[in-house]
Amino acid sequence: MSNHHVDKSMKLFQRACELIPGGTQLISRRPTRFACGVSPVYAERASGSRFWDVDGNEYIDWVSGIGAIILGYCDPVVDEAVRQQIAKGTMYSINHELEVELAEELVNTIPCAEMVRYAKGGGEACAMAVRIARGFTGRDKILFCGYHGWHDWYLAANLREDAGLDTHLFPGIDPTGVPKSLAGTAIPFPYGDLDALGTALDENRGEIAAVIMEPFRSDLPPDGYLAGVAELAADHNVTLIFDEVSTGFRPHASGAQGLVNVSPDLAVFAKSISNGYPMGAVVGRRDVMEAASRMFISSTYWSDTIGLRAALTTLREVRRRDVPKIVLDIGERLMTEITTVADEAGLPARCEGLSFHPHLTFEVEHPQQRSQLATLFIQEMAKRGCHGYTSFYLNASQSAIDIEQTVAAARDVFRIMSHGLERDNLEALLECQQHVESFRRLVR
Ligand SMILES: Cc1ncc(COP(=O)(O)O)c(C=O)c1O
Repeated sequence: MSNHHVDKSMKLFQRACELIPGGTQLISRRPTRFACGVSPVYAERASGSRFWDVDGNEYIDWVSGIGAIILGYCDPVVDEAVRQQIAKGTMYSINHELEVELAEELVNTIPCAEMVRYAKGGGEACAMAVRIARGFTGRDKILFCGYHGWHDWYLAANLREDAGLDTHLFPGIDPTGVPKSLAGTAIPFPYGDLDALGTALDENRGEIAAVIMEPFRSDLPPDGYLAGVAELAADHNVTLIFDEVSTGFRPHASGAQGLVNVSPDLAVFAKSISNGYPMGAVVGRRDVMEAASRMFISSTYWSDTIGLRAALTTLREVRRRDVPKIVLDIGERLMTEITTVADEAGLPARCEGLSFHPHLTFEVEHPQQRSQLATLFIQEMAKRGCHGYTSFYLNASQSAIDIEQTVAAARDVFRIMSHGLERDNLEALLECQQHVESFRRLVR
């Protein structure tokens, strides 16, 4: 730990900023999202539950490739299937049988799936689902809850009031570059509040094409909530879309729908559907999906067989290994042990939430202190070989050893945090800028 440094990472990032606007391709990979100057920025390689950065440091990875890794890095079964596919060509001038095979697998796996279209990423697949819903209903407006990517239809929410997206993962997004004529076409609704959704539907009666939402993000839904949403959507003849990009097949081998027993009209998958290979899918009811055959939705790489092969193999492996059970067990153990060491250190913190995506909450009064504690946690854990935010994104390769090392690191780190809190000198303990939540603060 004493000679931990990320000098090479930081130099690379400086070079990147000269060449790449914003420095990274994904906001969640910006160093300012972690402990900038202490957390690793560039990875060199990864395997199982771990990665190595360009400075040669080894980390247990609690971010799982921002959710894309569900089985573990370099999973031998998926990678071998992909290697065999590469040897036969990755894409062709005509179609490949895998397109149909994967569609059959998805239809057999996901409750709402009767037909399927493919994409390469989550935001793109959400945009496709929204287009299909608009085409199917002949209406324009979208009600949404949660984060759904970078496309115009979604960022339009911030055209009329610039805080429209603030409670949906990224606060402070300026809709620069989004056509102003889209103002009023994307309307947020708060999670867990059926009355608020009912009011939004009433106020826009006959104009809403779709309700798109993450079925859950950090906690399970209140009892009956998602069934209530489905009922409201059906009453208003609105397409209900579950964005399952983030949850994927961790809650259940059939996706979130399998856990909550509510079947939407359409659902969107990406990220972990293919364990690290680019892939996305929109699935749903036959009559809704069929509308896509009359719409222009078309792209060259959507037929790429690497993503198709990786997804087919990943889905089968998730079921064969019972990944939802594995991540449930890891998550429950992690939540219990992390909360115990926080108690032992006298730190007012808990590890709680969804078992496959638990998070730390700091029970302190001042938001500034909460933010300093979060950064200090990320910083000190990074120095001890644990990479993450204040949440843990699980994958099936994380082992008892990973948990033991992480809990041992947290035991030391929580003592440091607790002393800092007691002596009111958290700021002095930070070796980096406080980590940044707001997009506006990220870009200025
Ligand atoms: C629920 C949800 N939808 C959509 C997206 C966008 O996916 P992508 O980054 O692959 O475009 C994300 C990414 O974090 C997500 O969590």
